Amino acid sequence: MSVDGQQFETELAELRNRVNARLANYMQHLEDCPTQLRESMAYSLLAGGKRLRPILVLLASETCGGSIEAALPAACAIEMIHTYSLIHDDLPAMDNDDYRRGRLTNHKVFGDGMAILAGDALLTLAFEVIARDTQPGPVAAACCLDLAGASGWCGMVGGQVADLEAEQRLEQQNSSKKSTNPEFPSETAQNLSQLEAIHRRKTGRLLCSAVTLGARVAQADADSINRLQEYGLRVGLAFQIADDLLDVTGDAAKLGKKVGKDASLGKMTYPGLLGIDASRQKADHLIREACDLLEPFGKRADSLVALAKFVTRRDH
Ligand code: IPE
Ligand code: IPE
Ligand code: MG
Ligand code: MG
Ligand code: MG
Repeated sequence: MSVDGQQFETELAELRNRVNARLANYMQHLEDCPTQLRESMAYSLLAGGKRLRPILVLLASETCGGSIEAALPAACAIEMIHTYSLIHDDLPAMDNDDYRRGRLTNHKVFGDGMAILAGDALLTLAFEVIARDTQPGPVAAACCLDLAGASGWCGMVGGQVADLEAEQRLEQQNSSKKSTNPEFPSETAQNLSQLEAIHRRKTGRLLCSAVTLGARVAQADADSINRLQEYGLRVGLAFQIADDLLDVTGDAAKLGKKVGKDASLGKMTYPGLLGIDASRQKADHLIREACDLLEPFGKRADSLVALAKFVTRRDH
């Protein structure tokens, strides 16, 4: 690893530690929370994870001249939403996964009902934290609006619905024994555009919101927010392509979750439709575009550039 790479790893570890400490603090101050609920929320929220979304909030804020401290509540809030989405994604009614972040999934330990409710509580806590701890009030309101759009019916939740619907559609296509490629190229193109729409919503929007939240906390101008949004959309899509690839090529021990899940559930994925090499090329192309968009920020965006490159290089 180059010296720059080592410096970046150190920076990532420091930011991750600050996020982890603040998240633990939020979990300690849930007065009157039912004990089981608090344990279930903390079990998943404090279980590790790369903390990519909160780190993006902090780096975007710094790139726009803001402080880490001021961005920490929004950073923690997006991690709460992400963790809730993982708890629900793993439920038997969705992807039915047994392992997450190197330990048993939430519902395996606390039961389906408590897992659903822990997800609900993390979702609402996220907005409580921003509304109370982000200053000034109008910035907090703009952050809540941004995060609600990215995580709700037109963002992550809408994307998860489309993911489930595509799973059912593929099952029907397969049972009618039609091939998608190469005999039906128009069907492949249609599937690809559907897949891109799914990935942009289920994962891309939240990652993009991480970047724009940081810019909003720093009270960046509209041009900077738009540019960072374009960066975030590309990094977000590349991130889910990399997740699909790791499900085929990754190591379960490093990932902390099972591999081969997408094929067994009949999910629509990039490697499933394009193959491994073309999927890698697509992700790399998106990351190059994302980095080019940051040129006007100069050296201030070095960490965001390094983070974008990490998204496709990662092994976990
Ligand atoms: C996994 O997200 C789920 C997706 C949205 C693809 P991460 O890979 O960021 O998971 P953690 O937070 O590091 O556990
Ligand atoms: C999950 O995508 C996206 C979410 C909104 C949570 P996946 O279902 O591919 O994530 P993993 O592979 O289980 O982490
Ligand atoms: Mg899923
Ligand atoms: Mg899943
Ligand atoms: Mg996956």
